Amino acid sequence: MFRKTFIERLVAAGHVVVLSGAGASAESGIPTFRDPEGLWAEFDPTELASMSGFLSDPVRVQSWYSARSRNVLRVEPHAGHHALVDLERLVPKFTLITQNVDGLHARAGNRNVLEIHGSLLKNRCVSCGDESPPLDVSPDAPEPARCECGGLIRPSVVWYGELLDPEVMREATAAAEDCDVFLSVGTGAEVHPAASLPLVAADAGAYVVEVNPRKTMISDRVDEAIRGPAGAVLPALLERLSEVS
Ligand code: OAD
Repeated sequence: MFRKTFIERLVAAGHVVVLSGAGASAESGIPTFRDPEGLWAEFDPTELASMSGFLSDPVRVQSWYSARSRNVLRVEPHAGHHALVDLERLVPKFTLITQNVDGLHARAGNRNVLEIHGSLLKNRCVSCGDESPPLDVSPDAPEPARCECGGLIRPSVVWYGELLDPEVMREATAAAEDCDVFLSVGTGAEVHPAASLPLVAADAGAYVVEVNPRKTMISDRVDEAIRGPAGAVLPALLERLSEVS
């Protein structure tokens, strides 16, 4: 399943970076976005993942994110998440850049996690910026949830048309430039700037590997594409590493 070069590069690596996307959480029971059964097949991102959609129907948006945050708290990290915790323990330096907003990497036990698209488990006031825990708003709530200052409360996730936190993105880019091995796990690599990170790593000389059951936008640019689900491939990779080290 794994090429010899990949295992050799991994064993010798000083810095390993993983970029994860929605597919990395799929086997925990969290839907992806662009697969046939994904969220964007059923829901319109312009209504649910943009400031204009939020302002035109805040109760709908708050209740949708309330349901998603309840769902992520109900599920558990799977064997693929746990394998990434083992990988972090094994290598000298490890950076996990995630597009996922479900908090599962941190719950599994990874320590150096950059949540570049924010978190479903955090909210903030659009007026004063005060942070608050997950909301519990039902779709038929008469009024949207508001902060003490009167401002609307929104999820701390990055919406379409919004910039990623520049400091977090600077760290993610620096990690991609610095690493020896870069794993892109469970992302279709359609959304930038996240999708350019594997290419930044490749240009800087890293060995880039994709883990995904299907072909993606970057498949032709990676050194190795492993076609399989994260929950099977990542534990198998750790197993292989334990045999050689
Ligand atoms: P997508 O839904 O675009 O892609 C999910 C990828 O996961 C696809 O390439 C699938 O083939 C793959 N996949 C499915 N099951 C898998 C499994 N068990 N193991 C490994 N891979 C699997 O999700 P993202 O690439 O994460 O933005 O999407 C990027 C961003 O678009 C998201 O972060 C989100 C969305 O709009 C925000 O929330 C800001």
